[in-house]
Amino acid sequence: MSDALRERLVRHGQDHLLDGWEQLETGPRQRLLSQIESIDWAGLEQRLAAGDSLDPLAARLEQIVASGQLSGLPHLIRQAGAGEAATESRRAAEETGRQMLASGRVAVITVAGGRGTRLGWDRPKGLLPVMPVSGRTCFEHFAATIRTRGRRAGRRLPWLVMTSPATHADTLAYFREQKHFGLDPDDVVVFQQGVLPVVDAGTGRVLLSAPGEVAQSPDGHGGLLEALWTAGLLEWLKDREIDTLFYHQVDNPAVALAAPDVLGWHRLGRAQVTTRVVARRSAEESLGVVALVDGKVRIVEYSDLPARTAAATAADGSLLLWAGNTAVHVFDREFLEGVGSAALPFHRVHRIVPHVTSHAAEELVIPTAANAVQFERFVFDLLAFADVGLVVESDRGSEFLPVKRASGEDSLESARSGLLQLYGRWLEAAGARIGKGARVEIAPEWALTAEDVQGKIEPGSVLEGSVVLGLDTMPDQAAD
Ligand code: UTP
Repeated sequence: MSDALRERLVRHGQDHLLDGWEQLETGPRQRLLSQIESIDWAGLEQRLAAGDSLDPLAARLEQIVASGQLSGLPHLIRQAGAGEAATESRRAAEETGRQMLASGRVAVITVAGGRGTRLGWDRPKGLLPVMPVSGRTCFEHFAATIRTRGRRAGRRLPWLVMTSPATHADTLAYFREQKHFGLDPDDVVVFQQGVLPVVDAGTGRVLLSAPGEVAQSPDGHGGLLEALWTAGLLEWLKDREIDTLFYHQVDNPAVALAAPDVLGWHRLGRAQVTTRVVARRSAEESLGVVALVDGKVRIVEYSDLPARTAAATAADGSLLLWAGNTAVHVFDREFLEGVGSAALPFHRVHRIVPHVTSHAAEELVIPTAANAVQFERFVFDLLAFADVGLVVESDRGSEFLPVKRASGEDSLESARSGLLQLYGRWLEAAGARIGKGARVEIAPEWALTAEDVQGKIEPGSVLEGSVVLGLDTMPDQAAD
């Protein structure tokens, strides 16, 4: 090992990583050294120096709320608003969105680099068999939606999937094994985000995940920006004349993926960033809040928001910060180019991180409470750079059924049952009935919205048993 490397670690207060390294075999020793070489130690020191104080944006929002100065969201489209004007505006948006899809200006970005620690599943979340009857995985379901949108638009819809070292190999193998789900491999790009070292929350010293291995974690969904630059994908999109990106997370199977209405509103509203929101379920819900801060629409992550601010209420008892971020966005490509690759700030995320105490340790320490800090960039910090941040409200049960935990709210079970209820509502709106105990899933190939179901099913018909409309029944009606 070079003196320069040791000296660098000493300078940054991280030379404990070399304690006992001589005891490692040659291979692991080399891997450790090249891992240490690859880390930006000065960058880590800067992040550590920022300390554990309240995130500046969260602090500002706290101040605004406490002083009673919070204003309503500008550029807000409320879907609940019925009436002719709302319907007209929606129609216009849908028409614009359809034209955008038909002219090939849109691509989908799925972020799938997270490790899903709260879920406790050891494979990438995209491989979760989330669909309630077919058992289709998140990726299969999204691919079916992308195929269907492309077919309707008469143009292929490119799909960019961001992974991390934690999910990349499994995801890539799965895409290959599934032959890209029938999509043209030229239209599917799986690319990796970066990683950053994980530190002990008390000391700031970098942890070891195993003997000979520095603990690292993906750099947050906001790592997307740097990853797009590094992989040359902004150029790739430009070459294809794609100017609009529909962004979503891998763990929300109810997402209305590349829905024409939101694309159209984004374009008609001349927004650089559009965000779908839902009403927050409670003050405690783990959902970022969307609010106006010093003239800009901004999002503060739940983990950064002080509890009293998250719980602040209006005179009628409703939550002041009512709008929850569903992590569905539309971004302009040119806007992303203008922001540059490294502009987003880092946030401290406290996590339980198993680790070893030395290169000679045989036992993994599994803490019971958060022991470590990860540094993450959040994609919604892009809003700081946007002149127009548009907010589109959605109905929670229709578009937001995230899979975050092993049981209870926001679990695989709650998402599956939410999907069954959603499809039930679509069918009932078209005049059909779901028999007692029946489980009906709707494949994207058959219908993407409640409106698509109208006219596809005989009013008065009763659906029984476990069926997937569009996959295993009604083949005569399955044509899209
Ligand atoms: P979450 O913040 O919910 O994280 O990610 P997670 O990894 O899925 O689960 P926990 O928090 O460890 O339990 C929201 C979305 O952002 C993606 C995830 O894959 C998910 O789609 N994400 C998160 C990334 O792509 N990269 C990251 O570094 C973090």
